[in-house]
Amino acid sequence: MKRTNPPDWSSLIPVLPAEGPRPRAIYLAIRRLIESGLVPPGAKLPTTRDLSGRLGVSRLAAVTAFELLVAEGFAEARVGAGTFVAAAVPSLPAANPAEPAAEPPPGPARPFALGFTEPDRRTMASFRQLLARRLREPGPEHFRYGDLRGGLELRAAIAAYLRTARGVRCEASQILVTSGTQQALDLIMRAILLPGDAVWLEDPGYAPARAAVVNNGGRAIGVPVDAEGLDLTAAAVPAGRVRAVYVTPSHQFPLGVTMSMRRRLALLDWAARSGAWLLEDDYDSEFRYAGPPLTALQGMDGAGRVTYLGTFSKVLFPGLRVGYAVLPQELMERMLRLRAQTDRHPPSLTEGALAELLTGGHFAAHLRRTRRRCQAARDALVGALRRQLGPVLEPPGQGLHLVLPLAPPADDQAIATAAAAAGVQVQPLSPLFIDAAPRPGLVLGFSGFAPPELEAAAAVLAGVIRAAGSPLPG
Ligand SMILES: Cc1ncc(COP(=O)(O)O)c(C=O)c1O
Repeated sequence: MKRTNPPDWSSLIPVLPAEGPRPRAIYLAIRRLIESGLVPPGAKLPTTRDLSGRLGVSRLAAVTAFELLVAEGFAEARVGAGTFVAAAVPSLPAANPAEPAAEPPPGPARPFALGFTEPDRRTMASFRQLLARRLREPGPEHFRYGDLRGGLELRAAIAAYLRTARGVRCEASQILVTSGTQQALDLIMRAILLPGDAVWLEDPGYAPARAAVVNNGGRAIGVPVDAEGLDLTAAAVPAGRVRAVYVTPSHQFPLGVTMSMRRRLALLDWAARSGAWLLEDDYDSEFRYAGPPLTALQGMDGAGRVTYLGTFSKVLFPGLRVGYAVLPQELMERMLRLRAQTDRHPPSLTEGALAELLTGGHFAAHLRRTRRRCQAARDALVGALRRQLGPVLEPPGQGLHLVLPLAPPADDQAIATAAAAAGVQVQPLSPLFIDAAPRPGLVLGFSGFAPPELEAAAAVLAGVIRAAGSPLPG
């Protein structure tokens, strides 16, 4: 049999999930490398001694994993020569097309996955106490239907926070508490769109916002983003009116730019004249590492065209499923009619505890700690990438993710697939483009992972990029 040169294991060594039996984790990681073709048939696998040293596991765990690979036909052991990838790798049974696709188990957090946060011990302890008290002494609000906007206590706490922290001009009566930004976007699109209405979105942009447009019969039209944010002057003008514009002015997702003041003013001016709605998604402005935070677009709007969207998915945790929209009066009425026929109102149980967390002095301290932790994660990741790949990027001044640019013709989707096989989860940039010519890059989240994990994963990712021969911008 033809022997292929052994791959460079220093670049392909997988990142193992932190939990679960080691032999199975090693087996699965190597099997994924084999199935993805990164380690070709006939390639020699590392020795169990080498592998156990690199992964920091017992020799027995590596031996057991290899036995499993051999037993299942993925590898063959040759006496005196070592273990090799089998010439013909078993193919996985085809999924029965008649069966609905099984929900994949959420699986462990893999470095650079977006949308992960790390639990803050002190905040969780405070929240537990606040929740426990509300359960011990339940108020009457749990035993009847409540306000369609959500409970007043939480709306008042959110309004006070937004006025001071973000310069949003709002009262509790304008706030609709939702199960995250996504529900707010979906309800807004249902409230404002007629079939075929155009919505302008940042290009590249946040795919779930585009989905909310398309799912509700709208036409999603990309507007280019440059160093100053969304550029209205470059927008394709559709036949018919533009019903809404979705923007992330504080921190553009995914590119990370902040919209300049002149672009903000131009956008507000255009919205006042055209009557379009501006949907301002302010998802991670709490995570600003340098310089003062910028006032929200909503706070500069004299014409009542801006809906401000916020979420606790980043500052606290996504499992809470709490977000909010600050709505102009006209929209609030339409939204409440829809909400009455959807989920009626948010769950009352967590609302009071969350309101107390926001007002009780816990939250400011929580934000300081979380910001410090995320800044350390950012620094570790940027440092590791620069050591591995050279001066390819600067630390982002805000947020919980960064974009590692690749130079054309790099195939970011193929790199993401190869990275996944090596245990690292990256979001390719090119699918996030709508109408503009896609550019390759990798979107990396750092909020859910500790610095050592990020550094190890950066080394793996750099190995995958090098193995793919992908050019980096000079
Ligand atoms: C641009 C953007 N908006 C909003 C959110 C939050 O969404 P939700 O509140 O539905 O969890 C995210 C989370 O990843 C995001 O990236």
